[in-house]
Amino acid sequence: MLAWTEHLSVGEPTLDAHHQHLFKLLAEIDAMAEGGPGLDAVKAVFGELNRYIAYHFAEEEGMMERAGFPFLDLHRHSHQTIAMRVADMSAVLSAANVERVARELHGFLTGWLVHHIEIEDFEYRPFLAGGQ
Ligand SMILES: [Fe+2]
Repeated sequence: MLAWTEHLSVGEPTLDAHHQHLFKLLAEIDAMAEGGPGLDAVKAVFGELNRYIAYHFAEEEGMMERAGFPFLDLHRHSHQTIAMRVADMSAVLSAANVERVARELHGFLTGWLVHHIEIEDFEYRPFLAGGQ
């Protein structure tokens, strides 16, 4: 099971806490995708995920902006793509496809979380830490 570890730290405690919460949601989705998930449970997770990524992305973008991070537009675009993928999956969710969509969401988040943090979020690390 994928978990947040110290080597995924972006050097900013608030954003690390956000990322840890996203891993917690991933663990919930993992447990759910295993056990023949009910539509209401999957809907609830999508609701929480949609809400939380919007909140996290806005906070993260605000910090990058204040730190003068030069690739903010690119990063913002990447956030929008992720939010749209999650919104699209939640829009097609129904009783008929609930297991498939839950597995798809799990696969997408597993791939995205670590990739996005290690590759894209790490780009802003020196800017937030150094205040340059
Ligand atoms: Fe990000």
